[in-house]
Amino acid sequence: MNIVLMGYMGSGKSLVGRDLAAKIKLNYLDLDDFIENQEKKSIRKIFDDKGEIYFRKKESLYLKEVLETYKNTIISLGGGTPCFAGNLQTIANNENAKSIYLQTSLDELTKRLFAERDKRPLISHITTSDELKDFVRKHLFERSFYYNQADYKVITDQKSEDQISKE
Ligand code: S3P
Repeated sequence: MNIVLMGYMGSGKSLVGRDLAAKIKLNYLDLDDFIENQEKKSIRKIFDDKGEIYFRKKESLYLKEVLETYKNTIISLGGGTPCFAGNLQTIANNENAKSIYLQTSLDELTKRLFAERDKRPLISHITTSDELKDFVRKHLFERSFYYNQADYKVITDQKSEDQISKE
C-alpha cells in the first residue's frame, strides 16, 4: 500500500510525509525531489528552461512510474499534481494507493508561502503579501475541486507535524 499526500503549496506535504513515514515505518518519496533527480535540474530551473507544460508532462509520467514501482511508501505530490492531465484518475485507479488531502487555510498558506516564494516558480514573481493572498485565494478555489476528491482529509491549521501524522 502507498499513501499519497496532496494539498496546496505550503500545506506541509513534505514535512508531514517524512514524519508519518518515520512513525509508521514506511519509505518516503517526494515527487518534486524525484523529478529533480531524474531531470537533473531544480523545479525552478525546469520551469525557467522548458516551461510549465513540459514540467506537467514530466510530472504525469513520473507520477505513473512512482505509483507502479514503489510499494509501502508515503508519496508527497507537488501542489499542482492532482490538478493536471488525469493525474487524479491515475491515483484513484491505483488499487494500492490511498490519498490524503492536507487542508490548510488561506491565511496560514499566505503566511508560510510569503517567506518561501523564491523556490516556487508559480509565485516567485509576487512581491507583496496582499498580492500573494489574492493569488492563493483564487488558485486554491480552483484546485480545491481536485483536492477534495482525495480519500481522506486532514485539517492542518494550528497543528504540529506530529499531531497531523497521528490524525
Ligand atoms: C507546484 C507546486 C510545487 C512544484 C511546482 C508546482 C504547483 O510543489 O511541484 O513548483 O503547481 O502547485 P510544492 O507543493 O511542494 O511546493
